[in-house]
Amino acid sequence: MITGSQGMAAKAFLNLFSQNADVTGVDKSDMDITLPAEVSNVITSVKPSHLIHLAAQTDVDYCQENPDEAYSVNSQGTRNIAEVCSRYKIFLVYVSTSSVFGGDKAEPYSENDEANPINTYGLSKLKGEEFVERTMRPQKYIIVRAGWFFGGEERDKNFVGKIVRKLRKNQAIEVVDDIYGSPTYTLDLANGVRFLMTNDMTGLFHLANEGFVSRYDIAVKIAEVMGVDQNRIVPVSSSRLVFRAPRPRSEALVNERLNSLGKFRMTNWKESLGQYLINKLL
Ligand SMILES: NC(=O)c1ccc[n+]([C@@H]2O[C@H](COP(=O)([O-])OP(=O)(O)OC[C@H]3O[C@@H](n4cnc5c(N)ncnc54)[C@H](OP(=O)(O)O)[C@@H]3O)[C@@H](O)[C@H]2O)c1
Repeated sequence: MITGSQGMAAKAFLNLFSQNADVTGVDKSDMDITLPAEVSNVITSVKPSHLIHLAAQTDVDYCQENPDEAYSVNSQGTRNIAEVCSRYKIFLVYVSTSSVFGGDKAEPYSENDEANPINTYGLSKLKGEEFVERTMRPQKYIIVRAGWFFGGEERDKNFVGKIVRKLRKNQAIEVVDDIYGSPTYTLDLANGVRFLMTNDMTGLFHLANEGFVSRYDIAVKIAEVMGVDQNRIVPVSSSRLVFRAPRPRSEALVNERLNSLGKFRMTNWKESLGQYLINKLL
């Protein structure tokens, strides 16, 4: 069972997991995760062995201005799901975010670094993680922290989708060059989650494409793949922009636990972004 089935990441998860399992995708119209009785009724009627929880309020600025809704969906909604999974021994995978980090570290964040969110979205997702850990233990569960998503083709509402649309119009684009993260292709994420599930893993894992980049680096790579003049991408400092929610200076991730297993590595971001653009988006 997959929640948030109309969302950006869900497309890759539904495609991949339905190759060798019966998968039921549910979205808000099927199951509002903030309503405990509805969550219980829907999950017990589907009777999944595994549940991948993607549903969330993901608009960082909206969360900042609507904290009650952010906590209700991202924290309490996740708790509602975890409680039913715990009661019926359903294996839970919760997809969390690099936004749980504060941004001051010079190196990418590993699973051993302390989370210290600086905006409501990050805090609401971190509370979701805490509910999963507290509710599921001692049963097995996986919490995956992913970086900046790209993927989903027509559902690509994030940075990559926006830059492609702008580059198609003949405009110069200003892009910040002092905010860092780890791009994460939703198909690679789904593959990484499948690896963890099929190898009986449990606990917290970082799963992002390899690399540590600024938004500007990503935009330049997109221009290169599209064959557009890279000078149309103009680097600017984030101090020139006003965000409703504060952004961490860095939310770059290293997949330390995954890499230490020595069996599966996430691809470098440039390779995955190139493949996505060429095969799916352009
Ligand atoms: N986007 C990123 O860059 C990123 C990075 C790292 C981690 N993540 C995490 O990965 C997961 C998937 O992200 P995404 O970008 O694919 O999400 P998305 O495109 O925003 O989709 C989220 C889905 O959740 C649904 N939803 C919202 N409130 C709900 C509720 N109360 N009950 C049931 N469903 C509800 C939304 O439905 P409506 O549209 O109808 O509201 C939407 O279909 C999220 O948990 C997110 O926190 C995202």
